[in-house]
Amino acid sequence: MKDKLQEMLAAARVAVTEVDSEKGLQDVRVRFLGKKGELTAIMKGMGGLSAEERPVVGAMANKVKEELEQLFEQSNGQIREKVIALRLQEEKIDITLPGRSSFSGTKHPITLVTEEVVEIFSALGFGVEEGPEIEKDFYNFEALNIPKDHPARDMQDTFYISDDVVLRTHTSPVQIRTMVKQPPPVRVIAPGTVYRRDSDITHSPMFHQVEGFLVDRNITFGDLKGILTTFISRFFGEKVGVRFRPSFFPFTEPSAEVDIQCVICGGKGCRVCKNSGWLEILGSGMIDPEVFKSVNYDPEEYSGFAFGMGLERIAMLKYGVNDLRLFFENDVRFLQQF
Ligand code: DAH
Repeated sequence: MKDKLQEMLAAARVAVTEVDSEKGLQDVRVRFLGKKGELTAIMKGMGGLSAEERPVVGAMANKVKEELEQLFEQSNGQIREKVIALRLQEEKIDITLPGRSSFSGTKHPITLVTEEVVEIFSALGFGVEEGPEIEKDFYNFEALNIPKDHPARDMQDTFYISDDVVLRTHTSPVQIRTMVKQPPPVRVIAPGTVYRRDSDITHSPMFHQVEGFLVDRNITFGDLKGILTTFISRFFGEKVGVRFRPSFFPFTEPSAEVDIQCVICGGKGCRVCKNSGWLEILGSGMIDPEVFKSVNYDPEEYSGFAFGMGLERIAMLKYGVNDLRLFFENDVRFLQQF
């Protein structure tokens, strides 16, 4: 029996070297130490031993059992370590790899330009007003002295919601809404989104304008020139040339379009300014007495000027953007440059 015990111990030592999982070790343990295991089987033979032999073999069996337990304990520790090492290997993170940086948002160039325009006019005493993008015919056309048969009302240009509701085609209706609300003096700019049925390289059906107007006693064309020249030199730089060119708008009389010297060629003539050396940036004029009548301002007592400009247009000129569509595609590679 002593030999059997020794053989069994040796067999167990070999068996543990062959296992590589906690489950496998558990099976080996049951094989040797389990109720129906090899040690129990050997012990069953104890009955046939002599009275002298029995305690000696019994002591030996206990020792072998202890050794087995120690063996399994030790093996268990080794397997655990192996499993952990394996997991560490598999889940290893290479901290020397450069991280993926996250995108941070930037303001849209149209937002930047709008904010700058608002800031410049705020410093000149102008407040900011807004109006609805879905507008009544009355505010968008009628009160601005644009009669029913005016070409601007053509289905070609205007998105009609119903017979007398449109998507506003310009920010000028905010003039009317503001003047209906409050008596003079007023000094307001109104940035906003406008819509026209127009779409090509230089036109988008949705774009942005800023309207401005000032009404008080004794306002002259000189005031208009002073304010607009000041704005242009602050927005485009002191050196840029400015010219006022006679024009026509139904809501102003007299009217002028304002050009700046071409920011691309400096006035020498290029593709952008069509070789004229000048770029049109806004429409303006002295508010027509007909407009004052529709908001109950007395044209004998008050006068004023108004102007309107396209924000995409001045953004393109300021930043040298050559395609209007870039503003609406929202490609982050474009937007991040501002
Ligand atoms: N509303 C005009 C347009 O959309 C721009 C404009 C011209 C506004 C002259 C004005 C103005 O206030 O006086 O083309």
